[in-house]
Amino acid sequence: MPPIHDFIIRSAQPSDFKRICDFYLAHNSPALPAPSAKIVGDTIADGKILIVEPAHGGALVASGAIFELSPKTAVAYVGELAGMRATREVGGLKPITMQMTLLGLRLLGHVAGSAIPARSGMTNSIIAIVKSDNQASIKNVEHIGMRRLLNRPDWFEYDEQLWNGAIIADDWNHYYADAGTIERALSLLWPVGLPTGTIELQRVDKGSQQLEQFRFVLELPDIKVALREFENFRKTGAGIELLPPPLTLTFRA
Ligand SMILES: CC(C)(COP(=O)(O)OP(=O)(O)OC[C@H]1O[C@@H](n2cnc3c(N)ncnc32)[C@H](O)[C@@H]1OP(=O)(O)O)[C@@H](O)C(=O)NCCC(=O)NCCS
Repeated sequence: MPPIHDFIIRSAQPSDFKRICDFYLAHNSPALPAPSAKIVGDTIADGKILIVEPAHGGALVASGAIFELSPKTAVAYVGELAGMRATREVGGLKPITMQMTLLGLRLLGHVAGSAIPARSGMTNSIIAIVKSDNQASIKNVEHIGMRRLLNRPDWFEYDEQLWNGAIIADDWNHYYADAGTIERALSLLWPVGLPTGTIELQRVDKGSQQLEQFRFVLELPDIKVALREFENFRKTGAGIELLPPPLTLTFRA
């Protein structure tokens, strides 16, 4: 019998704040710049940081979040799939990787909670920005069905100037999710256990060359509650509207 590694995937709580900041700091790199304390705290409060931890306690092994990019008073909501890190403990998983799993769960959690616009005329967009030399991430983001965003909104350039001191142009690939991305995420996550609440994956460990099994118990009530809605969406393609980010920002009066 191959060894089985048990993990939990859940939304971070306020009590996880320090642990998450430490995790981001430990993995700070040009591909994954650590977010500010305010972003970490606000995103935890919104329930939008997912963490992966051993079922019997121990250090975080992976994380994935949606950071809010648009101002709260904008008509459009734009969130960024970000803060993605998969450590060696959960690297090289098949048939889908840890990052694909987290991207998919983050997207499903988002549409489960807020697919229906809260205000009339409000639009809903999820994007991802990946360094153009980050092959691992590009592969995962494209495999989960994110679309290339070729027409980048001007207002992104403001943040780019702040973060990088320049317009970053071709150094980063931009992507957005649409209903097809959700369909793809469901088609990848459903057969590995989404409806049962436990995702089962495996790998051959790079070091030992041994086959290993991985079980990820989902403590994600928003997704559990939406399973029927997702099943219906898979049959009819109706009910989920995700758009490319707007080219200009407009604000509520
Ligand atoms: C991009 C990333 C999230 C992709 O994750 P993934 O596809 O789920 O996992 P990977 O196959 O890349 O493996 C993650 C780790 O496990 C290791 N690994 C891969 N296959 C393995 C295997 N079969 N056995 C043991 N370890 C393995 C990798 O070497 C890597 O370790 P390292 O980061 O210390 O070098 C991940 O590589 C990462 O966290 N990179 C740094 C941060 C980053 O780029 N984030 C994305 C920003 S858009």
